[in-house]
Amino acid sequence: MHDVTSKTHWHEPTAGKRAGFGQWGRVKTPYDEFMESEGIPCFRDIGISKVQNLPLVPWKRTGGRGSYIQLHGTETKWGGYVVEVPGAGALNPEKHLFEKIYYVVEGRGSTEVWIEGDKKKHIFEWQEGSIFSIPMNAWHRIVNASSAPALLLAGTTAPIVMNTLQSVDAVFNCPMVFRDRFSGGDDYYKYKDDIEPDPVRGLAMRRTNFVPDVVNCELPLDNRRSPGYRRVEPFMTNNTFYFWIGQHETGRYSKAHAHTSAAVLICVKGKGYTHTWPEHLGVTPWKDGHEDKIKRVDYEPVGIVSAAPGGARWYHQHFGVSKDPLRLMAWFGPWNPGREPGPPGSKHFDYTGMDIHEGGTNIPYWMEDPQVKADFEAALDANGVTNRMRSEYYDKDYKGELPQE
Ligand SMILES: [Fe+2]
Repeated sequence: MHDVTSKTHWHEPTAGKRAGFGQWGRVKTPYDEFMESEGIPCFRDIGISKVQNLPLVPWKRTGGRGSYIQLHGTETKWGGYVVEVPGAGALNPEKHLFEKIYYVVEGRGSTEVWIEGDKKKHIFEWQEGSIFSIPMNAWHRIVNASSAPALLLAGTTAPIVMNTLQSVDAVFNCPMVFRDRFSGGDDYYKYKDDIEPDPVRGLAMRRTNFVPDVVNCELPLDNRRSPGYRRVEPFMTNNTFYFWIGQHETGRYSKAHAHTSAAVLICVKGKGYTHTWPEHLGVTPWKDGHEDKIKRVDYEPVGIVSAAPGGARWYHQHFGVSKDPLRLMAWFGPWNPGREPGPPGSKHFDYTGMDIHEGGTNIPYWMEDPQVKADFEAALDANGVTNRMRSEYYDKDYKGELPQE
């Protein structure tokens, strides 16, 4: 309480009222301000059918052209952008105190990587469909091997680091050398296709800093999302940035499941669409009159869509409608399993891979809204693709065992 009447002063609430504004527009974070200062646009939406359609604007710091990407629900969790490397040219060398992975949308070239003080540069080659990771704070230079431009899609942990340090200079000019992240060994960027269980959920994982061909690489059977679903988690440069590569068989679709935001699906093969809706609307949102709140993004390579664009838990469900199987990546930033709340050793379970009646969030096919199947069948018909969803998948006692061919 005081006797100054200016509106800029804080006032104790009067009886029965609560303190504070009650509502406001979210303030810009240091990372939002950094993106603005770069002079290129930032694409903010639920998704886009292909990132090749994003505007490419001259980007002085990198020496290429690009757009930032911040899909709804991913704000403050992780960042992304597309960057075009000029034909027969290169991006400016850089290092930074955040993790970065690059997926090659178009083109071919090479990357030079070195740590401050290293005499030798490590060089490896990439092409369309390759993915690789830059070790934390290592110098790197992206070189285009062809006369045509190359287009790369990046995912980074920059928002977390910038929002914490609140200093662009500290992020791009830190002398710290992470030798534990970059051995400099000759095989550092050699593709390793051995499979091991990931240490948290026991799902298939490959320790490799480079995957030459995400579009066609072999994927082990997973079976958690649809009959015959295949999936692998590449573990790169000791990153916290988590991602996987998965594939649904032609003519089959993913069960819906719900979790909070972070994941962005990236279509790399086939074409299809994703439905997403808030979990509180229930498992049959069409039937219950919530169709207007269901979001849908149609995509082809390289399309992107936020799995939970509203932040809280949203259901999402993916449908391939092409003769090619639907191959997706999902990028999460550091929001990976194993970093859930709770003390170490507390009990967690694979709730996004278990059906609702098992305590998970998967909607089994028999429980889903009839509109899901109807839309899928119509889309397959329109594309001349055979429906391979067998009638027993919709039986209540179907256990998700391997499909009978
Ligand atoms: Fe998901």
